[in-house]
Amino acid sequence: MEKANIDWSSLSFAYQKTPMRYVAEYKNGAWGKGQLTDNATVQLSECAGILHYCQEIFEGLKAYTTKDGHIVTFRPDLNAERMINSAKRLEMPPLAKEQFLEAVDEVVSANAAWVPPYGTGASLYLRPLMFATGIVIGVKPADEYQFRLFCTPVGPYFKGGAKPITICVSDFDRAAPNGTGHIKAGLNYAMSLHAYVTAHENGFDENMFLDPATRTFVEETGGANFLFVTKDKEVVIPKSNSVLPSITRRSLVYIAEHYLKLKVTERPVRLDEIGDFAECGLCGTAAVISPVGKVVDHGKEIAFKSGMEKMGEVTQELYDTLVGIQLGTIDAPEGWIRRIK
Ligand code: PLP
Ligand code: COI
Repeated sequence: MEKANIDWSSLSFAYQKTPMRYVAEYKNGAWGKGQLTDNATVQLSECAGILHYCQEIFEGLKAYTTKDGHIVTFRPDLNAERMINSAKRLEMPPLAKEQFLEAVDEVVSANAAWVPPYGTGASLYLRPLMFATGIVIGVKPADEYQFRLFCTPVGPYFKGGAKPITICVSDFDRAAPNGTGHIKAGLNYAMSLHAYVTAHENGFDENMFLDPATRTFVEETGGANFLFVTKDKEVVIPKSNSVLPSITRRSLVYIAEHYLKLKVTERPVRLDEIGDFAECGLCGTAAVISPVGKVVDHGKEIAFKSGMEKMGEVTQELYDTLVGIQLGTIDAPEGWIRRIK
């Protein structure tokens, strides 16, 4: 198979249209059989539910070329499960896990020429999404939906790749107590955009959102979970009901405990204690692990010992192990890698 003519190593995290995507429709109380299409355009009624009451959920996962030349995806079953949970919370019809996995396999296979080669640092980002196509004018769930899964080759989420970033403590909340922060719904991201633009205008790369009830605990950023490392190499994960249960973070917890034999603690983390940590990172499918060098809390700088030049030592070990598992140079735990080709 001949690869697409792309300078893979200079890709950023941006969309480019690839040949094929998967589409399935929900009508008359059931999901139809999905199919591949080359049509990247969606046509909707002006009264479609998505345009008014925001019934939209999505996922993000990646396909990689391994060192021995296979094309694989990383834990897509967990994305399927999370999308089912997201659908239930927004009163949307869940898509069966098997159909989700079929869509992943078909889209990756059909766009195999667009899966970045091993060693380029790039990957194929898959974006499954589901939205209300049915007509609603009174506030209620729609009765028709579309599931779509497209892909685009991507490089690092943050410019500069593994270089530490600076983030600010946001004055805005991305989630509400007992709200939808724990599901992957577009509405959460709409909530975060003003904070995102404000942070960028002020020269920061991202926001640290705090718990919406008390604004004293660390939650997450607009697109990734936090992890911290103490001076004694203990990995600390902020626990909260209103952050997205990141698949990358859950995988890193396993890697820290079982591969690196580190102690991991999941507990609420207070903003006023983060200066005690030696390392900080953002983890997610797009972010992988992006090191944070500094957090700025309304002018007060909290710098991590790992500094602004490189990743902290433990963060680097976690990163290397995760990426090694994804690229097939380190043995994966049972069931983590789904081979497509
Ligand atoms: N938190 C938010 C708000 C996200 O959008 C993402 C991205 O999916 C994550 C965390 C990381 O989750 P995952 O590791 O499953 O990609
Ligand atoms: C991901 O990491 O897959 C995300 O969805 C984060 C971001 C691009 C919104």
